Amino acid sequence: MIFKNIVMAKNKRRIKIRSLGFYAPEKVLTNLDLEKMVDTSDEWIVTRTGIRKRRIASEEEATSDLAVEASKQALENGRLKVKDIDLIILATSTPDTIFPSTACWAQKGLGTDHVPAFDVSAGCTGFLYGMIMAEGMILNGTVNRILLIGAELLTKVVNWKDRNTCVLFGDAAGAAVIEESDDESGMLSYYWKADGNLGNLLSIPGGGTRMPTSPRTVAQELHYLQMKGNEVFKHAVKRMGEAALESLKLAGLKREDIDHFIPHQANTRIIEATGKRLNIPPEKVYTNIDRYGNVSVASIPISLQELNQERKLKKGNIILMDAFGAGFTWAAVTYRW
Ligand SMILES: CC(C)(COP(=O)(O)OP(=O)(O)OC[C@H]1O[C@@H](n2cnc3c(N)ncnc32)[C@H](O)[C@@H]1OP(=O)(O)O)[C@@H](O)C(=O)NCCC(=O)NCCS
Repeated sequence: MIFKNIVMAKNKRRIKIRSLGFYAPEKVLTNLDLEKMVDTSDEWIVTRTGIRKRRIASEEEATSDLAVEASKQALENGRLKVKDIDLIILATSTPDTIFPSTACWAQKGLGTDHVPAFDVSAGCTGFLYGMIMAEGMILNGTVNRILLIGAELLTKVVNWKDRNTCVLFGDAAGAAVIEESDDESGMLSYYWKADGNLGNLLSIPGGGTRMPTSPRTVAQELHYLQMKGNEVFKHAVKRMGEAALESLKLAGLKREDIDHFIPHQANTRIIEATGKRLNIPPEKVYTNIDRYGNVSVASIPISLQELNQERKLKKGNIILMDAFGAGFTWAAVTYRW
């Protein structure tokens, strides 16, 4: 049965990542800086989250600015010009504006000519949701080449007086050029789910149509990110385990086949618990949360590109990407490099 699955996977048309890029703002905020802002300590943040520092956007920077920088790198690394792109998909939960979409602002920043562009809102899972959408659109012939961006600027929506949340996040963007694969490399399988019943555990309650911005919503600080951290934690571990195992099964692969596990970087303890549940040795689990904090949709493309730049991705390596985020949403993608 497993043999049959592998044969099927070999004959399948699939999409691949042609090139990657990422951008993180220059300004660094350390745990020691945070000690001066809220009642916290470097020791608490490191032991409870694994984060040591994070990058923070400047006052002038918006999400699309980060997206444009990451995209320029991805295009350059793929030896492409913006005219070679047929579609822009941008995953974010922190858009420049409610509308137009951040993808349209990024399209303007890149100077592309009438290329269709739209946003995906799937919390920290957005980059994987975007990859799954890209597969459908490329393999059914809608477009040939997609610029997929994950850009997030969470530090502009966290409450800098709330120690429960402000220590967790950073700003960054990652981008990937996606096209059809012409060999055995590429996306082997995916698994994606959502549960809107749990949306209130991680949300920005104010500023949308449910609770339009008003002096009252601002006074009550409802325009800031709110999270029941310990509840989110439990769901993240459970769902990331589920997504990873289901995606592997769909690819006809086993845990031992994984060369690199790239989990969404929300908390070292979530990453370790998921790795243990999947029985993946720690040396195969990529982490960079110590340097960036939780950068949401940007965490997976940045991790991939860092591994790539460190020359640790070998042709044929099996990579398992796994994410969980607001919605709740969760997804995993099994990929052959
Ligand atoms: C947020 C998170 C780090 C908190 O860790 P935790 O072990 O669950 O801690 P709790 O929320 O139970 O809080 C424990 C105590 O630490 C305190 N605490 C919270 N933040 C603190 C901080 N920055 N510094 C010091 N103490 C802090 C709390 O006030 C609480 O104190 P109390 O017991 O006196 O009330 C953790 O729950 C987490 O990472 N959750 C998931 C976050 C996530 O993944 N979000 C995005 C999904 S993509």
